[in-house]
Amino acid sequence: MPSSRRTDGVLELGSVSLADVARDPRFGTPAYVYDLDGIAAEADELKSAFDDAPHLVAYAVKANSAGPIVKTLAGRGCGADVVSGAELLLAVACGVPAAQIVFSGVAKTDGELDLAIGVEDSGLGAIQVESVEELPRIAARAAALGRVARVSLRINPAVDVGELDTHSYIATGHDEAKFGVPLASVTDALARIEGDRHLRLVGVGAHVGSQLTSTDGYATSASAVFAFARELRPRFELTFVDAGGGFGIDYGEGCPVRPADFIRRTRKLQKEMGLDDLALYCEPGRSLVGAHGVLVASVIQRKIAEPRRWIMIDAGMNDLMRPALYQARHRIVAVEQAEGTPTRAYRVVGPVCESSDDFGVHELPDMPDARARELREVAILDAGAYGYSMASRYNGRALPAEVFLRGGKVVTSTPRSSPDDWVQDRLRAPLA
Ligand SMILES: Cc1ncc(COP(=O)(O)O)c(C=O)c1O
Repeated sequence: MPSSRRTDGVLELGSVSLADVARDPRFGTPAYVYDLDGIAAEADELKSAFDDAPHLVAYAVKANSAGPIVKTLAGRGCGADVVSGAELLLAVACGVPAAQIVFSGVAKTDGELDLAIGVEDSGLGAIQVESVEELPRIAARAAALGRVARVSLRINPAVDVGELDTHSYIATGHDEAKFGVPLASVTDALARIEGDRHLRLVGVGAHVGSQLTSTDGYATSASAVFAFARELRPRFELTFVDAGGGFGIDYGEGCPVRPADFIRRTRKLQKEMGLDDLALYCEPGRSLVGAHGVLVASVIQRKIAEPRRWIMIDAGMNDLMRPALYQARHRIVAVEQAEGTPTRAYRVVGPVCESSDDFGVHELPDMPDARARELREVAILDAGAYGYSMASRYNGRALPAEVFLRGGKVVTSTPRSSPDDWVQDRLRAPLA
């Protein structure tokens, strides 16, 4: 369900001209532009797949932590999956009830555990335990605070990377991954929870990987979670099972399944396993926001050294790290392109002083085009997830602007950071 389309040659997102946004001096480029209506519709479609059964769509805040986005999803009844104390505080500030927040992460600090156990007096919905070693630490913090910590076991179901059909860097549920309690340690983990009055086991879950384009690996992992939950029920009062996130989106190479397909298949398995009374949790990040954000960049210049042709833009790997980090490919298109404009292959690169600052080869209008017009701006599509949230100020670069659209207009924005902010930051440690 991408939110972008071309009208009279101009690319639009959520019915707003991206040429207008790119040229608006309030924002500057590079600018992330998000369609909040598209994100809300994505959440509604996913929630409808649960057919009114008890559930929680815990939005993985790491995918995009922009306040307007987290607030929009909280407004559609989503909870949150957080991986740091800061994300936890943000989710609460955006209106997510603490009881609808789960806290994942392999190395939570004592300070973060205190926050999770104590927030809003009742504490978070669950701390997702990722190792046996974490349990005594959680118990000690709960005891110090005079509380009982609700925990869920994130098991590592050892699903083969090959079965997941995703990049190995974003597969997390295989037995070499640092994530989740290994199956061999589960017995030990359960004994520790049972023996400690400051711990209460409320759920079991797994997250096997990201950008899954088939429901098979997810279903294998969910089956392992359900089998485990069934075994535990006589001993523990579980309230939920969590099948994780990871629903893929179409980055241009197709994605035959929708997020709702993962949930329908998982619900069916849940019913077959006799676990229908437990709430089903999922933790989508990318699929809620990815297709509803674009990164708009201005063209700085081209460089020709035949047969090589580059287009250099003002967005770099610091703004959108996915291509450099895990060889991800995003479609790049001209913001303005009249029907029938001749195109040719250009390698699109950014200004960062690294060879990996490279967005790949794309068919773009030849420059200048047949009417001697220079290409002014390009849009990097499907950049709503793991874009701004991974951005850095490497090379002294500004953080990009963020522009939020709703109802066919800009409703709020943050400007690009200034070079001076960066200089002041680097001078924070005084040395005479
Ligand atoms: C524990 C956990 N839950 C959810 C997610 C979200 O994954 P995605 O954005 O692919 O849906 C991740 C991503 O890495 C994760 O590690």
